[in-house]
Amino acid sequence: MIKDWLRGVQDFFQGRNGWPLRRVVLTPRRGDFGQLVGCKGHEPLLWLVSELSSPKARYAELLWKAINDRVLHCLLETVHFPWINQEDTPMFVAIEGGEGAGKDLLTERLRRVCNPSTTVFTREPGGTPTGEKLRAVLLDPETDMGAEEELLVFIAARTALVRQVIRPALAEGKTVISNRFALSTLAYQIYGRERNDLLEFLRQLSERATAGLPPVHYVLLDVPPEIGLRRVKQRNDGETRFDAEKQAFHERVRAGYLQHYMDTNYGMAIDARQSPEEVFEQAIQRIRQWQQ
Ligand code: TMP
Repeated sequence: MIKDWLRGVQDFFQGRNGWPLRRVVLTPRRGDFGQLVGCKGHEPLLWLVSELSSPKARYAELLWKAINDRVLHCLLETVHFPWINQEDTPMFVAIEGGEGAGKDLLTERLRRVCNPSTTVFTREPGGTPTGEKLRAVLLDPETDMGAEEELLVFIAARTALVRQVIRPALAEGKTVISNRFALSTLAYQIYGRERNDLLEFLRQLSERATAGLPPVHYVLLDVPPEIGLRRVKQRNDGETRFDAEKQAFHERVRAGYLQHYMDTNYGMAIDARQSPEEVFEQAIQRIRQWQQ
């Protein structure tokens, strides 16, 4: 239905009748259409209100008709609001990838264009008071931990996150976007640590921790470790226990991610050597497809 609306809007906007409206929205001045790109929350509505009360109010009637013709939806779509048809469609997306792949940047950009009342952002490990404490322990270069303890602590943090944040949000029909989730454990604790013997143990624990969740769509940001680790160094915000691992560890993590990507069909991979803008465009396009 939304597609039909948008098609109608597009026809209207591009056709003869849309000409005065095009003049209004394309004329550079206060409330310029160009400023709508990247705007947040209710700003498009405010913009329309300012249109209606501006000296160009002779266009008010036309604008009002246009709104009825779903132009508002066209505007929302144009300015990259990916959530316009998302009501009551719970969806769970994880942003995955190795060190320095650009997950934080992508998550931040998604946060800027998503409706805060229908989208919950979180991260792993973390996202709950307990999870954040466990995160500090897990990432601390001083922590001395074997592969088994490490796996268990990640699962403990995940169990808290699922119970306290993810499950309630999905039950309310919200979309959840998590900076890392279960795929990280497979890539780091199984492939990275070369502990294939822990795979069955992980599978059983994960089943318990994530029981009842819908399938997780994932966006895998793939970057060669030499590039990713260089980016981490340039960020200069402190090395974690994982950053400090040898390059071979990160090569295995990457291979684990890619293997999983090739074995499954519920995720997408993006070449994260590209610019953050290109990565964002590709990610948002796919997330929209998943929402439909
Ligand atoms: P990040 O927030 O910078 O990605 O840091 C989290 C670190 O924890 C990162 O190095 C990957 C690691 N990690 C695992 O090893 N296993 C996991 O299951 C998760 C969620 C993260």
